[in-house]
Amino acid sequence: MSACEIVFTREDINSIVQRVADKLNEEFSNSTSIPVFIGVLKGALPFMMDLIKKCTFDLKTDFIQVTSYSGTSSTGVIHLKKDISEDIRGKDVVIVEDIIDTGLTLNYLKQYIQLNYNPRSIKIVCLVDKKPLRKVNLQPDISGAIINQNKFLVGYGFDYNELGRNIDYVFVPTKKQLIEWDKKLNLEKK
Ligand code: IMP
Ligand code: MG
Repeated sequence: MSACEIVFTREDINSIVQRVADKLNEEFSNSTSIPVFIGVLKGALPFMMDLIKKCTFDLKTDFIQVTSYSGTSSTGVIHLKKDISEDIRGKDVVIVEDIIDTGLTLNYLKQYIQLNYNPRSIKIVCLVDKKPLRKVNLQPDISGAIINQNKFLVGYGFDYNELGRNIDYVFVPTKKQLIEWDKKLNLEKK
């Protein structure tokens, strides 16, 4: 990978996730509540897996899937692709998301979960809060890191057209890298 900008190394990610877990441990460790962590597929998968391993209280997990992104930008149109399966009525819910960009996805998800399942509480936790392109006033309860520039990130769950999620650090891909991925994806289509 030629001279890409590394935004978070594996070590950075580890301490960011630990900080988020510490806050959740403070919140839930002395409570009788068993919160349900809902990971937003697919981007939040690595974060969710690392986060729950650092949480020291009893919790349940579930997943929901929505889509809004194509290439390097959000389409703004949100589709629910997979719903949750746990019964979360009257429960404490922690939505675990990789990144908040326009805020449209989490705004939609929060309303969807509230209206359809009426949980006792909803907390929003994200790995990265990307501020510049926010379109709705949606603030996470806990954010791992804040980014004040409009950077397109790949790695540790963040993807470019589904590629790059498995890379173990977060970086801004070079144009060359994106062109290489586009070529690969085109070859795959043939
Ligand atoms: P929002 O609805 O604009 O807040 O977008 C949220 C979703 O877009 C996230 O869950 C990510 O899946 C995706 N996304 C936002 N920014 C990036 C990025 O920099 N890289 C990859 N995916 C992103
Ligand atoms: Mg996502």
